[in-house]
Amino acid sequence: MEHSSEIDSAAAAADAKAAARERVQAIQAEFAKKGDALGWFEALYSEAGGDVSTIPWADLEPNPYFKRWADSIGLKGDGRSALVVGCGLGDDANFLADLGFKVTAFDLSPAAIAWAKKLYPRSEITFETANLFEPFRGWLGAFDFVLEIYTIQPLPLEWREKVIDSIARFVAEKGELVVVTRGREDDEAVNAVPWPLSRKDLSRFEANGLTEVEHIIYPPEEEGEPDRWLVRYTRG
Ligand SMILES: C[S@@+](CC[C@H](N)C(=O)[O-])C[C@H]1O[C@@H](n2cnc3c(N)ncnc32)[C@H](O)[C@@H]1O
Repeated sequence: MEHSSEIDSAAAAADAKAAARERVQAIQAEFAKKGDALGWFEALYSEAGGDVSTIPWADLEPNPYFKRWADSIGLKGDGRSALVVGCGLGDDANFLADLGFKVTAFDLSPAAIAWAKKLYPRSEITFETANLFEPFRGWLGAFDFVLEIYTIQPLPLEWREKVIDSIARFVAEKGELVVVTRGREDDEAVNAVPWPLSRKDLSRFEANGLTEVEHIIYPPEEEGEPDRWLVRYTRG
């Protein structure tokens, strides 16, 4: 049987996550009212003041669904180049570096990138502050392995196609892309951020010349959450 202090700390962590998610919805709505769909990310990371518990997607561990998949196939970088889109605090970039990838990881938020650099000061990772919609030219078609976890879902639904187009263009010929996201049915209504992806949304990756080669549905680790999808694409 679990010790009562373990139960207490699990309950406290669940409360903190619920509070952090509420804060995300409030701050996203506050910026959206001003017509700013992106400013809330930097505001959230800045107001966190280094407290990871206030960032609902951050836990200083690789994403559990991505890790499960990577472990299951024995993913190895063997010196291949990887790009982590919207890397946040850099936990997945760090995991890919451990697996032997040469990693570039970027985020729109300078506060997130400064935090990631402090957490993972290692030469195998280049962290950059950059906007997905205005990337460095040299990144286009340049990466053997592109990883996108939870960056599409908090961006406005009406931007979905342009977000997907922007991510797809990083994948090199013979390269691959892995997307981890909340999933929903094509006809399922969505309300508060984050807005899960449907199969119809995902088909836009194929319109960008990628081929879906795997679509795994993981039951969520938390009750009441949507399934998580891990979708893998290749180019060429
Ligand atoms: C929900 S968080 C996920 C972070 C990280 N992938 C993870 O799973 O921990 C989305 C991230 O995307 C970043 N982001 C949002 N819009 C972006 C853009 N246009 N360009 C680059 N990064 C962006 C945010 O700053 C945030 O760190």
